[in-house]
Amino acid sequence: MSELSKDFLWGGAFAAHQFEGGWNEGGKGPSVVDVLTAGANGVPRRITDKVETDEFYPNHEAVDFYHHYKEDIALFAEMGLKCLRTSIGWSRIFPKGDEAEPNEEGLQFYDDVFDELMKYGIEPVITLSHFEMPLHLAREYGGFRSRKVVDCFVKFAEVVFERYKNKVKYWMTFNEINNKMDVRNPLFLWTNSGVLLKEGENAKEVMYQTAHHELVASALAVAKGKEINPAFEIGAMVSHVPIYPSTSNPEDIMLAEEYMRDRYFFPDVQVRGYYPSYALKEFERKGYNIVMEEGDDEILLNGKVDYLGFSYYMSTTVSSEVEPDESAEKTDGGLPHGVDNPYIQSSDWGWAIDPTGLRYTLNRFYDRYQLPMFIVENGFGAVDTVEEDGSIHDEARINYLGAHIEALKAAVNEDGVDLIGYTPWGIMDIVSFTTGEMKKRYGMIYVDRDNEGNGTMKRSKKDSFDWYKKVIQSNGEDL
Ligand code: BG6
Repeated sequence: MSELSKDFLWGGAFAAHQFEGGWNEGGKGPSVVDVLTAGANGVPRRITDKVETDEFYPNHEAVDFYHHYKEDIALFAEMGLKCLRTSIGWSRIFPKGDEAEPNEEGLQFYDDVFDELMKYGIEPVITLSHFEMPLHLAREYGGFRSRKVVDCFVKFAEVVFERYKNKVKYWMTFNEINNKMDVRNPLFLWTNSGVLLKEGENAKEVMYQTAHHELVASALAVAKGKEINPAFEIGAMVSHVPIYPSTSNPEDIMLAEEYMRDRYFFPDVQVRGYYPSYALKEFERKGYNIVMEEGDDEILLNGKVDYLGFSYYMSTTVSSEVEPDESAEKTDGGLPHGVDNPYIQSSDWGWAIDPTGLRYTLNRFYDRYQLPMFIVENGFGAVDTVEEDGSIHDEARINYLGAHIEALKAAVNEDGVDLIGYTPWGIMDIVSFTTGEMKKRYGMIYVDRDNEGNGTMKRSKKDSFDWYKKVIQSNGEDL
């Protein structure tokens, strides 16, 4: 018998830029994602200077939730979702980012979306910034390199907290704030923070300075949100890929432990309200000069989060015996000492399939932080085949999700982890973040759209649609 509470938030997750489309409608300004071209598995997405007329930008139309939101939300309701996680496109509200007044048409769009969700009793779970910084802030100020952008973010947060204070309870400040720890792939610093590295710069030092500004921005937003509505639950959101040692060799164990600090750094600050000692030692050892203003310590302490949201897709493994490969520009976040794990299979995009890693993650996080946890992304990106009769048999996705739900149940039932909910990623097909492809599909609802932007945008149900509906109805019993 499952001990998931009757209020357990079964849901689905999206990001505005990956499903909304309408990139220049309703007064929206261009965001950092609107200048990302399409890539592929192993082919990085390019960042263009501005929106070029002869380039294809997959996020511009995405899957056009902007015009289909009523139809889509009706499908989510039919599936029985209790919550829907998405983000507010920052550049819909502040098209350039530094205006004095917000864009009313953008605010109204989210009012309409939230009202439609509430009509079906679906609770919105909202990320303030999911890779959607206004392009102007990146070009004009260098994104979160600049303290000025902290003010712009806090103003944006204040405006939307105030506007939706009676419609949204669960918030997160920055999506996968820790992606940028991987400074080898320019995509992460750009989408997280609006930062492009300059020739000769120390990438890690720039990353930590940017991180400091975002941590301050996150803490200020949390404090502001609590002032506006003390009942808000405001969380951090990190990408978590646990790192296993390849053997019982103590060198491998310590190496994995050191790598794990890159995973823990952001939640350590956001949960505890101060910098962990291993990070301060690293700054000292490497001579990083991270500018912190007077009062920042207090800001961090006053802006601790209420829960930890995280994405979990896969685990990774390191060995002290391999020569680190720092050179290759990575598109998938692989580690310099990374090795294949012989006990784990991978998806077609090389993402390790490891449900036990989810239980392990929930335990490590819960032991470390003693805060409620929220799995706000998990899923299986794969190619789907549409049969002649229109059906789509996505058994591999059902198996992946079912095994991960078993793992989260074990973490709750057997380990006592306090878990708020589970929102699988992209329950309707959307544009892939890392590759910009459509063919890397996570959805339980298929969208007729291909990598080149062809297709009717018609929505249809995959086998996983009815399966997930049954899972929700049985509160996770019927897998
Ligand atoms: C997370 C992001 O990194 O993983 C999402 O928060 C993203 O935006 C998801 O889409 C899956 O990655 P991808 O590249 O397969 O879309």
